[in-house]
Amino acid sequence: MLGKFVLLYFLLVFVTNFGLAQEQDQSVDVTRRVDCYPEPGATEAACVARGCIYENEANQPSAPVGTPWCYYPTTSGFTKKSENGQNIVLEATTKNPYGDNISPLNVKYRSNGATLLVTIGNDDRYVPPIDIPQAPSTSTETLKFESGIIGFSGIFSFKVSRTNGVSLWDTSIGGMQFADKFIQIATYLPSKNIYGFGDHVHKKIKHNLERYTVWPMFARDIGPDSGSALSTQNLYGVHPFYMCIESDGKAHGVFILNSNAQEVETGPGPHLTYRTIGGRLDLAFFPGPTPEQVIQQYLLHIGKPFLPAYWALGYQLCRWGYTGLDEMKKVVARNQAAGIPLDVPIADIDYMNHYLDFTEGDAWSGFPAYVDQLHAQGLHLILIFDPAIEVDYGSFSRALTANASFISWPSDSLVPHAIQDQYPMAKNTRVMLGNVWPDRNTAFPDFLDPTNKTNLWWAQEFQTLRKVLAFDGMWIDMNEPSNFDTAGYSTKSSAKSRAARDPSVLASSKLACPIDGSDSTLEIPPYQTWAVYLHQGEYLFSKTLCMLGKTTGGQQNFFDTKNLYGWSEARATYRALPKTTGKRGAVISRSTFASSGRYGGHWLGDNTARWEDLQTSVIGIMEFNMFGLPYVGSDICGFNGASNEELCLRWHQFGAFSSFSRDHNSEGQPDQDPAVWPSVAQAARIALTFRYYYIPYLYSLHYSASRYGATVIRPLFFEFPKDGEALEISEQFLWGSALMIAPALYQGQTTVHAYFPADTWYSLQPETYGQRMLSGFNDVSAPLSSLTPVFVRGGYILPRQFPGTTTTASRLSPFEVLIAFKANTASAGDLYYDGGDDLLPNDDIEQHPRLHWQFSFTYSSFGAAFGGNCEGCSTSVKSPTLDTIEILGYPTQPSFDGIKLNGKSVNLDLTKSFYNSTSQQLILSSKGMIDLSANVKKFTLTFVNSA
Ligand SMILES: *[C@@H]1O[C@H](CO)[C@@H](O)[C@H](O)[C@H]1NC(C)=O
Ligand SMILES: *[C@@H]1O[C@H](CO)[C@@H](O)[C@H](O)[C@H]1NC(C)=O
Ligand SMILES: *[C@@H]1O[C@H](CO)[C@@H](O)[C@H](O)[C@H]1NC(C)=O
Repeated sequence: MLGKFVLLYFLLVFVTNFGLAQEQDQSVDVTRRVDCYPEPGATEAACVARGCIYENEANQPSAPVGTPWCYYPTTSGFTKKSENGQNIVLEATTKNPYGDNISPLNVKYRSNGATLLVTIGNDDRYVPPIDIPQAPSTSTETLKFESGIIGFSGIFSFKVSRTNGVSLWDTSIGGMQFADKFIQIATYLPSKNIYGFGDHVHKKIKHNLERYTVWPMFARDIGPDSGSALSTQNLYGVHPFYMCIESDGKAHGVFILNSNAQEVETGPGPHLTYRTIGGRLDLAFFPGPTPEQVIQQYLLHIGKPFLPAYWALGYQLCRWGYTGLDEMKKVVARNQAAGIPLDVPIADIDYMNHYLDFTEGDAWSGFPAYVDQLHAQGLHLILIFDPAIEVDYGSFSRALTANASFISWPSDSLVPHAIQDQYPMAKNTRVMLGNVWPDRNTAFPDFLDPTNKTNLWWAQEFQTLRKVLAFDGMWIDMNEPSNFDTAGYSTKSSAKSRAARDPSVLASSKLACPIDGSDSTLEIPPYQTWAVYLHQGEYLFSKTLCMLGKTTGGQQNFFDTKNLYGWSEARATYRALPKTTGKRGAVISRSTFASSGRYGGHWLGDNTARWEDLQTSVIGIMEFNMFGLPYVGSDICGFNGASNEELCLRWHQFGAFSSFSRDHNSEGQPDQDPAVWPSVAQAARIALTFRYYYIPYLYSLHYSASRYGATVIRPLFFEFPKDGEALEISEQFLWGSALMIAPALYQGQTTVHAYFPADTWYSLQPETYGQRMLSGFNDVSAPLSSLTPVFVRGGYILPRQFPGTTTTASRLSPFEVLIAFKANTASAGDLYYDGGDDLLPNDDIEQHPRLHWQFSFTYSSFGAAFGGNCEGCSTSVKSPTLDTIEILGYPTQPSFDGIKLNGKSVNLDLTKSFYNSTSQQLILSSKGMIDLSANVKKFTLTFVNSA
């Protein structure tokens, strides 16, 4: 009796004392809310009906921009039912506004090396089939998973933390949901220094966590809108990955493997809320602690980038709208005549016959002979291919014979026969027909087809075309996939429905998807994401195929796999390439997903010839390096709109430092190849000649990215994560650790206010060559008529080769090294060299025949030593000799007599060798000085200083 009484007493005290307080406790500060009504149209009644809290802060000027008025109580989520080792079972208790939460729900965690993996969701949920290698990572840091309970609520939360106690994730902010078509997880973040998530255009590389911002991720055919102050629209690809720099400068990364329409909302907590409408959550936490280590750990998880052919690092010239081969020839010739280094002319869809893949148009009859001519000059050709195949010609017919699969309607009753039956080959199929560039309806290959027959047919088509037209690389476009004018149709009115789907009524035979009734559940899920809400009147299927389409050989819904379309086409194309050309080449894809970098590179899409687009390109190339696609660049001079002389000039000065360096222009726009303006030709020649000089360094960086997982182009904070200023720099970047580029990006600009993190930096601009730069912000000269501001960092050694106007020619020049001296520090660097376009058997870069030299340089007051060690070098690779050593900042006059290579005297070429004690520049040169071939394996060159 007494016991019961005591219990009742406590309950009474609890209710009376906490009843009121609890209501207040439930209120969450405006900086740390999880939105409970993320779609438009929140009202108090609708909010409360969701079991959420409504507080309208419209009159609170201090509330951050985008503060949700309707938000989840922190005690929302799942309760923990059991925990057994690394398996936790949750039970749904609170409300999910978009369907019943799945219960029981499994949470599992495990380590893979230093990477911590957390899976939320049961085994029957869709997981993207991206054959993730998940190689174990290493780190000096350890991450710990701890499950907990939010307050006294019994609501489950978890933390991922370092041993120093910093939590990378802490989900006690509440709001976890897991219904079939609405999954959400929210977490506090350890700092506001957040980078990544894509594919978006960002005006600053660091996210703005002072406000709430929703970034949808759903592959979409839409150009970046760099003109707006803030454009959150989802672009061509999906990269649910971010990096965070903690307050002590340690970096970590988080990847969420999920291919459904999804979004992330960042907020001032700092916190983030991730929402997706299918699949499950496969989280990976990468401990760093340096930014480069985070990327390495991420790439071990999702796959390391492919190694482009050497020639693919050359300059590329393209436009849409060539009237025929003659025009292409004329443009290529005038740029060659202007001395512009050029490796790759590219043909856009103009070369095809009526935009049909694997065909050649009438105005291109001499194309095969021209390609032979280009090859004879040491150039290479890239052609564009679209995924959509018109359903009335040879390629489609061969696909059917090969039993290739296409994205299809799930049932016969949904097939719009009025369209379908016009095509004898499609008539008795369920193939979903759309409209892209070709004149008539098209089908979309199912590159996820598990039988591989689709990919075999695709490879066969390339091989058949290659027999007549000897292209060397593939550019794959429109692979979100894009479909023109996808419409919705109502099943409610059968007359209307018929009309909407009858091509005799419609102007064109457009694809229409059901927008009501039982067939519309995938087209209009309960929560449609901001990919839809950003565009009033749209649906998930707008600009693409119906979500109910069947993929993966009929096993999956397009609803789940759409974001993988570009990824799967890139994989199929990359695998087709060696079978087609017998050589290594390059694939460039518009739509990408995490791990696309294994199969190709990327250009930043259909930008516009505006200064803002040039500015955001710098951020774009750095972000795609973080996403594992280091072979990336923006369309130089701008794609849409008419470019102009100054913009095109500045864009070439910047674009010469993108890994993928291509001028590209839209149809109907005036020419913008560098030869159009003498000033642009001059600037492009200077910038590209510098690029060609240092391509051995760029190629070595790509090798490191492919072999170990690394960025090629990186933001300043990657090398200086403890420098608060570096965390904010969006308009400068590095090639590897050693070369910093500070391009001019504004109209009328003559100097760049460039930031130099505390270190040794030397100018490589001709006017100030070899001069040391002060740390901090400096105004550096950025002339139109000279080289872009570019600086080398002390402590590094860069390989280079005297440039020709093709990489084929440059590869014949002797090697040189540039050593940037740093006091009291040994300098280091490496050189990777191989056949340039030979295949990597089984994609195995470890086994690939190579010369990989590791260089070191040490200095004392008596003299200096430059040494090389050959790592894994192969006798089958022949290379030029290393003839020239240039040292910047060399402090003392050396004696030219006492130079020894492996103890033997070296006779310097005194017409080329010198030391300038004012500029501290030293050049040591001798023809054939150092043999880099594999039978040497090791060398040491020493010299003494003059007393
Ligand atoms: C395609 O399927 C048909 C019918 O199953 C079969 O006879 C034929 O051998 C298959 N062809 C290929 C290339 O797989
Ligand atoms: C499809 O191709 C991949 C890669 O070549 C291979 O691993 C897989 O076994 C193939 N699948 C089938 C069904 O042939
Ligand atoms: C040495 O360097 C200084 C500073 O760059 C320069 O002014 C001078 O002309 C150079 N001397 C020679 C002999 O090249």
